[in-house]
Amino acid sequence: MSSHNDQQDIWPEQPPSRKEMSRRQFLTYTLGGATAFMGAGAILPMVRFVVDPILHKKGAGDFIKVAEISKITEEPQEFTFELKQKDGWYDSTATLTAWIRKDAKGDIYALSPICKHLGCTVGWNNDKAHPDEYHCPCHGARYTKLGKNLEVAPKPLDQYKTKFDNGWVLLGDIVPNTVASEEA
Ligand code: FES
Repeated sequence: MSSHNDQQDIWPEQPPSRKEMSRRQFLTYTLGGATAFMGAGAILPMVRFVVDPILHKKGAGDFIKVAEISKITEEPQEFTFELKQKDGWYDSTATLTAWIRKDAKGDIYALSPICKHLGCTVGWNNDKAHPDEYHCPCHGARYTKLGKNLEVAPKPLDQYKTKFDNGWVLLGDIVPNTVASEEA
């Protein structure tokens, strides 16, 4: 008597050959691929949202057009300019100030107005007792034209990195003063 089992022994179910694909495999791959495609479409914008601010640092290293070279005099002048900053996901604009002048040789440099004592803002020629100096109104720090510290402050005024392009002075990051040491 022939049984179902006998038939299985005679015609055992053959797995699909490597080149063939069962209907179940086809559906699995198709649905899996479609799900992965849709998932990537949803996830990639989120990944970009998280990573983008890290890749784009806040504007450090940028140079900003601040003043026309023809307007720079030996007398320090105050110039203000705006710096667009990106802090993580927060965009802001900071207004910065620089005291810019040229020396007798025509070399141009720009000083930061931030007092090196406790961070108040210095002004030029604003202390009648000490003309032609930077003076800090908070605790009386004094600096020379090149930013050299004379009183109270422990260090010279910082300066901006400077570039020149097409008749303009461009300012970059604030760095330690390199010109004050030229002063006797
Ligand atoms: S902060 Fe300028 S003298 Fe103190």
